[in-house]
Amino acid sequence: MGAAVLKDGSHVLSSVISSQDEIHSLYGGIVPELASRRHIETVIPVVDEALQQASVTMSDIDAIGVTQGPGLVGSILVGLSFAKAVAYATGKPFVGVNHIEAHPLAVFLDDAGDGVDTPEFPYVALVVSGGHTSLIQVNSFTDFTVLGKTRDDAAGEAFDKTAKLLGLGYPGGAIIDKLAKEGNPKAIHFKRPIIKKGNLEFSFSGLKTAVMQRVKDECFGDLSTPLEDGFVRDIAASFQETVVDVLTKKALWALEATGLRDIVIAGGVACNSRLRESLSAATGDNGTRFFAAPPKFCSDNAAMIALSAHHHLEAGERGELDMNAYPSIKVM
Ligand code: KG4
Ligand code: ZN
Repeated sequence: MGAAVLKDGSHVLSSVISSQDEIHSLYGGIVPELASRRHIETVIPVVDEALQQASVTMSDIDAIGVTQGPGLVGSILVGLSFAKAVAYATGKPFVGVNHIEAHPLAVFLDDAGDGVDTPEFPYVALVVSGGHTSLIQVNSFTDFTVLGKTRDDAAGEAFDKTAKLLGLGYPGGAIIDKLAKEGNPKAIHFKRPIIKKGNLEFSFSGLKTAVMQRVKDECFGDLSTPLEDGFVRDIAASFQETVVDVLTKKALWALEATGLRDIVIAGGVACNSRLRESLSAATGDNGTRFFAAPPKFCSDNAAMIALSAHHHLEAGERGELDMNAYPSIKVM
């Protein structure tokens, strides 16, 4: 659950996140019912905290933005019901936001309030999260064209499942990122999925199976055998390198295909240090430019939702009290 207060559309006065990792790590992944219950418990304290950190009260707030989807519908419903109730009680306008459209806008968030380096519209965004892996052409704050997406698993899902298989815990992305720094990325070669030049689709389920097969080979089919630390570090580094290689190549192909020069990475996997390093090294020539928000604004956060909401409100959109939550919605 997160809540944020923004001033003038992009200046972040506060951004509070109440992590649920502790609860879900007990089960090796997100348990939807526990997530929605925890949202109910935290929504009021988190909003209060965001107002307090921003040194404002609810009466200072001009409008409310809220996630409408996609994601776990129980959790989204908690935020949406709360936002509608506050809007109804206070008479303030509110608007629903597609959280996948908000991710690539996070680079406009200005934490310090003294300006940030931003891409020029239209630009290409690589949105890599736990549920999505898409290349999106961002035409404006409210207009998007999907260039390609995953046929099966999302990149973050592949990180989480690989970490689980290696017995590393949840959430897996950050753990693999850290561990991979001590491993050899060339130790194990994994086939790069759909790496046909120009193809902007992704597929990560085969990679997950290949990792599983390699682990089984290592422990002679008995997955209860403890794995050697060196092997775990090498397989983590090799897996990460495969994902980063595919994401980097496809991001560059998307720039080539569209003739655009700015690439933005967004979503939880955009926190990955190797992915940042790889894209930073691969851009700069031919006028291409690479942008990434600070990690705290890459993974799910309320500040990006508020920023997106601001632009929808500016465009005259208003939410109605019968607005619904959607587990999956298209990027427009
Ligand atoms: O965008 P996000 O916070 O939530 C969704 O919308 O899904 O993304 C969460 C995903 C998880 O799969 C998590 O393992 C991954 O982002 N992630 C990372 C890193 N930090 C978070 N993946 C790779 N490297 C990281 N450093
Ligand atoms: Zn997300």
